[in-house]
Amino acid sequence: MYSYTEFDDAFLAERNAQFRAQVERRIDGSLTEDEFKPLRLMNGLYLQLHAYMLRVAIPYGTLNGRQMDQLAMIAERWDKGYGHFTTRQNIQYNWPELRDVPDMLDALAEVNMHAIQTSGNTIRNVTADHFAGAAADEVADPRPVAELIRQWSTDHPEFQFLPRKFKVAVSGAPHDRAVIKAHDIGLRIVERDGALGFEVIVGGGLGRTPMIGKVLYDFVRSEDLLPTLEAIVSVYNLLGRRDNKYKARIKITVHENGIEDIRARVDARYALIRAQFTGVDQQMLARIEADFAAPAFVEKSIAPFEAAYTNDPVFRAWADTNVDAHRAPGYAIVSISLKAHGATPGDATADQMRVMADLARRYAHDELRISHEQNVILPHVHRADLPAVHAALKDAGLGTANIGLISDIIACPGMDYCALATARSIPIAQEIATRFDALKIEHDVGPLKIKISGCINACGHHHVGHIGILGLDRAGVESYQITLGGDGTEDAAIGERAGPGFSADEIIPAIERLVMAYLDLRQDPSETFLATYRRLGLAPFKSALYPEAKADAA
Ligand code: HEM
Ligand code: SF4
Repeated sequence: MYSYTEFDDAFLAERNAQFRAQVERRIDGSLTEDEFKPLRLMNGLYLQLHAYMLRVAIPYGTLNGRQMDQLAMIAERWDKGYGHFTTRQNIQYNWPELRDVPDMLDALAEVNMHAIQTSGNTIRNVTADHFAGAAADEVADPRPVAELIRQWSTDHPEFQFLPRKFKVAVSGAPHDRAVIKAHDIGLRIVERDGALGFEVIVGGGLGRTPMIGKVLYDFVRSEDLLPTLEAIVSVYNLLGRRDNKYKARIKITVHENGIEDIRARVDARYALIRAQFTGVDQQMLARIEADFAAPAFVEKSIAPFEAAYTNDPVFRAWADTNVDAHRAPGYAIVSISLKAHGATPGDATADQMRVMADLARRYAHDELRISHEQNVILPHVHRADLPAVHAALKDAGLGTANIGLISDIIACPGMDYCALATARSIPIAQEIATRFDALKIEHDVGPLKIKISGCINACGHHHVGHIGILGLDRAGVESYQITLGGDGTEDAAIGERAGPGFSADEIIPAIERLVMAYLDLRQDPSETFLATYRRLGLAPFKSALYPEAKADAA
């Protein structure tokens, strides 16, 4: 775990003191809302439908028990007793009072956390594989380099006013759990001739014009990474469009200029600036890497796990879906579902946060992760402790065995909170989860990712859902458009639009028809929804969604 230096602490204290004074001036009326807006956005404070919303970064999704406890305390003291974990490894508080926000930021600083650059046209929270440091398939832990990128990008003087927001994701494994191809820059640690380096992907992004990123370089050596990133962002800063907000992301810059042109410009810029990077960054990286040293794993019998697995079907179902392979013998990665059937995806109460913090301390080397799928991970749990962890989770309403299944839905806040929303997302997610729970076919359906956004901005990643749902406003009525075949992994794909949208009443039955059609169409239970879709294409799913169209055509 990275520990702050004196510099980090002093920097946060100063930023928070500045913001406290700005908030006071807003409250006493000497700043108008328009004057205050750019100041609050620099500190992650939005103005939403009903209240202010504070977005707090959880860098590369990693936090410890003390930090989770503090998030719980903040939720209880200054919000309504819960927080919302998002697809960008942030936590959002939806109900703070403006006068309390400086105290909230101070409370965050006490545990080395902040809300800087969680908003605005800057380099946002750097995200990473939520199994980092634990995954069995990992080449190297991506978090040290993500931390280096965070330090390089935070308050970077040249990159505070980019054409648009800028998102970087890092993965250290061949299987992509960080959706790196849908980021402005996606980095994948790869090995070549015994040395570690980075595949650099640029120009991915979701939103209005979804795009899969393109490979800019297939291998950049570790010591050349920061100058390469600096060159890419500088080129984008100059070339990116500022005349049209909707064409300002780097995905459009890459699309309009072509990847070869971008590469030539980045090469030229790199040649100019390379000498400024004298190796200090590599010294910093070495210090950061030491902070992320793996915990001391222990060896003990996994007999308690085996006994529970054999004798307790509820534990077995949970272990089958929520537990993944770990690199260390005897260990496992636990995913805690924040998707109890009928709950708001990604929400956790203060009590639940404390339970998770406590479990991390007792059984998981004091580490937690937030996944972009809006769940919480205990990355290093010994298999012998899994029954105890499961029992404690169940008691706290956190034992749902549905990771990767149909009710493990990503949903943005939509019309329930977001000022940009054109439709609700949370109730749709809740109804789908409740419906398939009632049908009792969730485990039979198997791996299936449903992702829901309440508007075209795609915060809920609907484009890369196997089933994506986009809420739109059609003449004052909510309408839900379905996309199929999206994928956020190393085989990333943008989903195809299935046809006309459905009303709020029609969307749940439509999803049910789709899933029933899949159960009929699959070759055998091992063929997933996505594999079946890839084999057969849109047509049979379309007929299931629009049976009346078939009748009309007959
Ligand atoms: C409630 C306040 C929010 C506002 C005002 C907001 C605003 C936006 C906007 C305007 C975009 C489109 C940007 C562009 O393409 O240039 C966007 C994209 C995005 N936002 Fe949000 N969002 C909010 C909440 C969230 C939440 C809760 C999440 C996670 C659940 C999230 C994650 C994302 C992601 C992943 C994208 C994807 C598009 C991309 O950059 O590739 N946002 N958001
Ligand atoms: S997708 Fe739209 S509705 Fe949902 S959080 Fe993003 S901006 Fe708001």
